[in-house]
Amino acid sequence: MTFDARALRDAFGAFLTGVTVVTTHNEEGAPIGFTANSFTSVSLDPPLLLVCLAKTSRNYATLTGAKGFAVNILAEDQKDLSNTFARPVEDRFAAVAWKNGPFGSPVFANVAAWFDCAMHELVDAGDHVILIGRVEGFDNSGRTGLGYARGGYFTPALAEKTLLANADASLLLGVVAERDGEILMVEDGNGGWTLPFVEKAESEGLEALEDHVDMNLGLILWPGLLYSVYEDTKTGRQHVVYRATLGKGAPKSGRFFPIQAPPLAEISDSAVRDLVKRYAAESTLGNFGVYVGNQEKGRVHAVAAKG
Ligand SMILES: Cc1cc2nc3c(=O)[nH]c(=O)nc-3n(C[C@H](O)[C@H](O)[C@H](O)COP(=O)(O)O)c2cc1C
Repeated sequence: MTFDARALRDAFGAFLTGVTVVTTHNEEGAPIGFTANSFTSVSLDPPLLLVCLAKTSRNYATLTGAKGFAVNILAEDQKDLSNTFARPVEDRFAAVAWKNGPFGSPVFANVAAWFDCAMHELVDAGDHVILIGRVEGFDNSGRTGLGYARGGYFTPALAEKTLLANADASLLLGVVAERDGEILMVEDGNGGWTLPFVEKAESEGLEALEDHVDMNLGLILWPGLLYSVYEDTKTGRQHVVYRATLGKGAPKSGRFFPIQAPPLAEISDSAVRDLVKRYAAESTLGNFGVYVGNQEKGRVHAVAAKG
């Protein structure tokens, strides 16, 4: 059976992916790389991943003959890099800060994650070749990845960030900040625990939260997606809570608690208690919803509802 290639490609493009740049060095030792969204994680033990390379690529011989390659998962603000590595630009690497990874292939600064791989297997597949890499080293920054679907980029966390920057009222910004299976809680001033909250001025966006966590807790915060929006009808304050990941280091104040064992009895704010409980339940499956309501009553909206 033959299909119209364009129609088939458009249908494949309905699948939402991230965007990566695959890199290695050529025989002269110069870095080479190309944009690829055909990345898939394959196996944990042994640690394997794959990416599909078109046989028409100018780098086909280099990549299929390489001892290894790296996969750089682009962050939301790296659209330009994706374009540079997809076009016939003279020196693609002039546009990016990079270094050699532990196995020797170029890894980029400020990406969501990178994997430096040894070549595990090449699988011939029609007009592409599947490069299967064995992970020899990796880094995961916690940044939200750049999205790609139907030929266009999407940036969910950046879009929410813009939305927030345009919210004209002052409100309380909170965060469920996770690291290695634990969430960070801070003292509530009454001997109990709560989430980090900061008052956002009209002119500020999500950076108010990043600065607050940096200054008061001494940790780098990578904000992710929206988690909860509620008004405390007793105080009349609007609360907007985001999910986030935290950088390395010990917090200057506050404490990490296992996601599945938060100090519920010591959280006096019922809205925060319910939120932390919901986070524990949802994080086992990763099916996070967004709560909209007030401190007592509201609805959790599914982010990706099943049909
Ligand atoms: C978002 C995006 C995803 C892409 N994914 C792939 C891919 O998975 N495999 C591939 O061979 N080319 C892919 N391409 C196309 C290559 O990046 C493009 O053809 C590039 O110019 C190849 O460079 P080269 O010929 O120097 O290797 C993609 C392009 C874009 C913009």
